[in-house]
Amino acid sequence: MTARKKPKVYITRKLPDAVETRMRELFEAELNIDDRPRTQAELLDAVKTAEVLVPTVTDRIDSVLIEAAGPQLKLIASFSNGVDHIDVDAAAKRGITVTNTPNVLTEDTADMTMVLIFAVLRRLIEGSRVLTEDPASWAGWSPTWMLGRRIGGKRIGIVGMGRIGTAVARRAKAFGLSIHYHNRKRVNPATEEELEATYWDSLDQMLARVDIVSVNCPSTPATFHLLSARRLALMQPSSIIVNTARGDIIDEAALIQLLKQSKIAGAGLDVFSNEPLVNPKLLKLAHEGKAVLLPHMGSATIEGRIDMGDKVIINIRTYFDGHRPPNRVLP
Ligand code: DGY
Repeated sequence: MTARKKPKVYITRKLPDAVETRMRELFEAELNIDDRPRTQAELLDAVKTAEVLVPTVTDRIDSVLIEAAGPQLKLIASFSNGVDHIDVDAAAKRGITVTNTPNVLTEDTADMTMVLIFAVLRRLIEGSRVLTEDPASWAGWSPTWMLGRRIGGKRIGIVGMGRIGTAVARRAKAFGLSIHYHNRKRVNPATEEELEATYWDSLDQMLARVDIVSVNCPSTPATFHLLSARRLALMQPSSIIVNTARGDIIDEAALIQLLKQSKIAGAGLDVFSNEPLVNPKLLKLAHEGKAVLLPHMGSATIEGRIDMGDKVIINIRTYFDGHRPPNRVLP
């Protein structure tokens, strides 16, 4: 960074110590040591003086907030891969640059997708609960007890074949699944060949033919309830769905109904439509062994969070050095 006054950076959540130390060195950083999520009023106040806002997926950076920002706010350097919590068009109108932290969450999120597939098909949580909640009820091994479903040989249908979808496909192939995918456009022929992947132009047709549906597309107005009641109803009764992307891509109420009626065999969800609230009906389904629920942990690794922090720092430094930040979303 050239010799200029350190940029005033407002960080909305507690970040890993190493990241905060570096931010303190490089910026006039206002940190959130106690990690209390900031209220909208506090954010409104912060954007009056900050030059850089570092939000996370738990903040709502809407048009009201962006329009209320002072002229000094130049950059929203999100500590996230997804930017659905930011009104990027409103930021673009104000000439505020938005950056994110892609790539560094890909492998961890793909791992968690596989964890959910295994957890649902092999009944991991149910089995573990027997031992942790009522060990005396375990009568020992039995040929017919706690049977799950074999992973190998199943067909996975990946909705959204971007970085994370492709990383899921690589893992799934290694476990003997056949790869099917739906995406706005086909991936390049070399990737398709490597993964022996079948492209489905029609999401409806893919949903009707696969055993596992994995949601890996971003949340945008176009993907809101992409997995609608009508589409979910096309899935086979023996099939399962996992979501490590965003809750609002699935019509959650419709999914609950189909799980209750056993028209879909199971769900593995790391994300929900109204986080941090989880629909009690989903919790009930989890207790009945029809769903595995995780509290948005897909990218939650120590390494990943440090990498995300590094990306935020690089984006801020590059911007104030007068260059285009590497992870610029808009404008
Ligand atoms: C992101 O950064 O978009 C992730 O959802 C956080 O896990």
